[in-house]
Amino acid sequence: MTTTISFLDGNFAPVTEEVTTGELPVSGRLPEELTGRLVRIGPNPKAAPDPATHHWFTGDGMVHGVRLEGGRATWYRNRWVGGGEVVNTHVIGVDRRTFALVEAGSSPVELSDELETIGRCDFGGTLDGSFTAHTHRDPATGDLHGVTYHWSWDHIRHVVVGPDARVRREERVPVPDAPMVHDCAITERFVVLFDLPVTFDLEAAAGGASLPYRWNPDHPPRVGLLPLSGPAAEVRWFEAPSCFVFHTLNAYDDGDTVVIDLVRHPRMFATLLNGPYEGLPSLERWTLDLARGTLTTATLDDAGQEFPRIDERLTGRAHRYGYATAFGEGIEHGPALKHDLARGTREVHDHGPGRMGLEPVFVPRSGGTAEDDGWVLAYVYDATEDRSDVVVLDAQDFAGEPVATIHLPVRVPFGFHGSWLPDA
Ligand SMILES: [Fe+2]
Repeated sequence: MTTTISFLDGNFAPVTEEVTTGELPVSGRLPEELTGRLVRIGPNPKAAPDPATHHWFTGDGMVHGVRLEGGRATWYRNRWVGGGEVVNTHVIGVDRRTFALVEAGSSPVELSDELETIGRCDFGGTLDGSFTAHTHRDPATGDLHGVTYHWSWDHIRHVVVGPDARVRREERVPVPDAPMVHDCAITERFVVLFDLPVTFDLEAAAGGASLPYRWNPDHPPRVGLLPLSGPAAEVRWFEAPSCFVFHTLNAYDDGDTVVIDLVRHPRMFATLLNGPYEGLPSLERWTLDLARGTLTTATLDDAGQEFPRIDERLTGRAHRYGYATAFGEGIEHGPALKHDLARGTREVHDHGPGRMGLEPVFVPRSGGTAEDDGWVLAYVYDATEDRSDVVVLDAQDFAGEPVATIHLPVRVPFGFHGSWLPDA
């Protein structure tokens, strides 16, 4: 028995216009040192799709951005991402350039500072085929690490892009069944590979499914540790629970173990085939014991949540705090969450009645040393006004009033991911 839910209603619905504003009204006081752009992206189909077959993940990409400068919000812009194939999942900065990303097919699309499409980019001819939406920057080297896949490959690839926006490593790791690999994680020693039971489905592809990946109970779930610069032959695989993981919060080495914090979905694309919901996703810690060869799991927070983010200065290192968006039934977006994983506590920032938060992005304060010394920035949808804001929270006063709220004249649909791209 399969089901669908609509990803074309409410704030899932696409917007129909590209908008450019001048200076935006702000409540509160924007920190002057926040000078840059808060960009995000999601699916926004140009032409009305057939609701019976439309998959949320496959709509044309639209990027949204707000520019902050010296305590002012100087513009909002939204633009469809051009360049050919659908690119709709993440926006990142590399070498002071802006890239829109998607997994499993298209190369990145470079955007101008004003979010116009410059064109597809294969990192100066160094990227061979598919890229990924989720990269993790090693703070020690500035290298971006990702794991790429494609339905036609008999392997997945660890791809490393240097700070100069050129691929400097591609290591192919054999895997059967062409699994979907949305994210990875890194530690100081390893890249973490997810080989979980959502795999390419030929029957679904032949039947015209726009996203032909299905839950595959015959595919043994496992997690691999590949040395950051070692050969595929050195991967160590660990038996994993039967589940699906879109996103990691972070991972790190801890003696003879590797700790991975992630959002676990009970299943994926087993019965609901046009979007990512098969029960509430929860925050877990997986500990891989290198001596014993075992993987153990512990629940960190069983409340529904997604879009986990950390202070990215700690990518691959032990972290104390994590941020996420609360999810209800049917991926209904909710408050912002701040986890203190050392104390095992959680703070909630309720955006107010009818207001739903999108992915939170942590921005450290310049010169700050405490892990949570900084701000959490998030787009928020206000259902009452059918319009969006950007809120700036003090990460150390997470449940308190926002430091500032930027009022947009339009709404920003629910979508996927984004970044704070500082000018300097
Ligand atoms: Fe993602």
